[in-house]
This record gives sequence, structure tokens and C-alpha cells, in this order.
Amino acid sequence: MGQAGTTTAQSARGLSTLAVLGGSKTAEPNVGMIAVKLTDADVDAAVGVLRSGMLAAGKHATAFEERFAKMTGAKHAISCANGTCALQLAYGALIEPGDEVLCPGWTFIATASMLAAAGAKIVWVDVDPKTFCIDVEDARRKATDKTVAIACTHLYGNPVNIDGVERLAADRGLSIIYDAAQAHLASYRGKGLGAYGDVVTYSFYPTKNMTCGEGGMVTTNDDELANKMRLLRSHGEISKYTHGMIGFNYRLSDVEAAIGNSQLDRIEAVTERRRANAATIADALATIDGLHAPVATDGAAHVFHLYPIRVEPEKFISPKEAGIEADNVRDMLCKALNAEGIGTAVHYPKPLTRQPVFDGPGVQHQAVCDRLTETLFCVPVHNFLSEQQVAQVCDALKKVAGALKRS
Ligand SMILES: Cc1ncc(COP(=O)(O)O)c(C=O)c1O
Repeated sequence: MGQAGTTTAQSARGLSTLAVLGGSKTAEPNVGMIAVKLTDADVDAAVGVLRSGMLAAGKHATAFEERFAKMTGAKHAISCANGTCALQLAYGALIEPGDEVLCPGWTFIATASMLAAAGAKIVWVDVDPKTFCIDVEDARRKATDKTVAIACTHLYGNPVNIDGVERLAADRGLSIIYDAAQAHLASYRGKGLGAYGDVVTYSFYPTKNMTCGEGGMVTTNDDELANKMRLLRSHGEISKYTHGMIGFNYRLSDVEAAIGNSQLDRIEAVTERRRANAATIADALATIDGLHAPVATDGAAHVFHLYPIRVEPEKFISPKEAGIEADNVRDMLCKALNAEGIGTAVHYPKPLTRQPVFDGPGVQHQAVCDRLTETLFCVPVHNFLSEQQVAQVCDALKKVAGALKRS
């Protein structure tokens, strides 16, 4: 029978209560995965710059950099056009063509693609199955005499095992680049992420914990690296129309920087809200067999850019048994949650080694990354959720997992 009507077997299991099989929805209106809303203060800040006519990087960009450096505990912060440019600045300052660089197979494409663009040879590393961040022991196994750097991501808002990365880097003489595009205001052992590594990169894309529209930042504690990245950002210009190296135009405009400054005024409140939402969802998940809340790295303060839930597929009936069309258990759960009115997202549908741009003869696929492809999904955790909406996310998780669990 189709999904609109339930069979007797489905009714007997209580499946008929599921909205995906014709039952009533948990949330009306739907609870969206993301919400991007600028405040009046953000808009006024941008309009102020627009009215001034001083649109290019200027006093707002400088103020944004100073405040961001202070917030992240770094000596220097250098604003740029987006998080991808930030990675290019970092790699441009630290990586030479042909250099071997360790990189997790589970992150957004740009962490790795900008390494490739810099001419690096990527050495793929697996991730920890619970924190989803780089597995430092695997990185240690994969490092060779030719490895010069480790590039890794504070993924979903969860800092990597920085102690482990720093030990490895010290033992092997590696540079460290942390991609913190998803981790503004996260901290490790009580310090901001800018306190660690050679360079840290950030993104202010609209869906991130804070935004400028489009924007990015690099932080560093090294004067020389800061100087090189400033030159790379702006045509290698050492003084007016004198160019000491090949550089780009990756500057952030003052309109974007003014929005960034306004967002900095409330990043703490935004982060508190995300953490509170995450705690409520974790309480619900603690009562559900087969679904697992994200685990923060030891010593880290997570900022929940995303809320990834790990599925144990064997704890649930198959899509076929449920009568729900889906390729796997994770997709079945997402489909059922979506029908309940709860948005879901899969970050990421493929590990990087399976992306057409990287896959090919000799590529080393990673076991945990491969498994996460079918066992991870995200539910809404953003700061615009009302208490009622967070409760609806929890109710829907309990309802869907309860009906579909294998008895
Ligand atoms: C981990 C990570 N790195 C890099 C980026 C690239 O940032 P942007 O979109 O600002 O270029 C993103 C953003 O999507 C990201 O999530």
C-alpha cells in the first residue's frame, strides 16, 4: 500500500501515527533547519556605511578585526571576502606546491579544495566516530617525512582535540591550520580558538553562527604570517602601488564589516541560545535508544553550529518494513521527521574522498567517514528557535524513533 494509507501491520506497530504514513504532524508551521534574520541594528549599521559612501575596507573593517582578535584570543585578525579566501590566505602563507598536508576526509569541501588549489598533496585522515573531528592517532599513522602541515576543522562547532594535534605537530615539525568556519566563539581549555595553531580561518556566510552576508577572517599570533596574509589579501602591496609579491583582492567591504561588528554585539547571546537548545535536544535523545547526541571533544566548549545526530541503523526497522520509501534507515528517519514538520539536513552526503573531484585510482577512503555518510543527520538548533519549536523537535524525534524502533 502507498504511504498515504497504512496496512494492518503498520497500524499494529503504531506506525499509523506517523505523519509520513498519514498520521497528524507534530509541528505546524514547520520548524526550519536554518533561519537567517538580520536585526534592525545590523541593517542600520549597513545603511550607515552605505549613506557615508565610504564602502571599501576602512574603519569598520579595522574595528571588526580588532574586536574579533580579542574575542578569539589571537594577536592578529585579518578580515577577508569569505571563508574560502581565508583558507587561501592561510595556505598561501604556509604551504608550497608539492607539500604533503594531512586533512580530514569529513569536512566542508573548501578545507581540502583550497589545499589542492595551493598545489598541496592531500593525505586523507579519518575522523573520530563520536566527535566527527580529525582522528589524531590516524593522522600520526599517516604522517610521513614529507608531511609539512595539518589542516583540520572544528566541525559543527566542536573544537578538534587540540592537545593531540599540537603534540603531533610538535613531534613532526608540522604547521597547523584550523578551519573554524563553523566555530565562532568556541573555546578549548578555557581559551578562544585564536590562541592555538599557526593560522585559524573563519567564515561569515549567512547560515553561520554570525554573518556579514559574505565574509571571512584569519587569525594568527605570528607577526610574519600576519604580514604575509595581509599582503596576499591585497595585491601584495607593500606601499601605495608598490607590489612586493603576487596577491589578490580578498578584502572585506566596510558594509559587510559593519554588519559583522553589529553581530559581534550579540554572538555571546546567540551562542548561549544554541547551547541551551542543544542541551534540551540532548535530554530528549538520552531517552531514545539508537540515536546519539553529538559529543564535545574533551576540554572543548561546543557552539553547535549544527546538531548532528548519530544513528545506529540496526536499532530501527528497515524502510521496507516500515513501508517508507528511503535508501537507508537515516533517510527514512529524516523523511519521517520532515513529514512531522521538522527540517533535517545531511552534512555531508559524501566524504571528500568520494567526491568526484578527489575520487580516483589510489585514493584512500576512510572507514569512519564512509560510515558517517549513511548514519548522520542534523536537526534544527539555531538561535531563532522558540522554546516551543525546540520542544517540537524533541517530540518529533521521540515519536519517530519510538514508532520505527526494532522491538
Ligand atoms: C568548514 C568550512 N570551511 C570553509 C567554509 C567556506 O566558507 P565560505 O562559504 O565563507 O567561503 C565553510 C562554509 O561553508 C565551512 O563550513
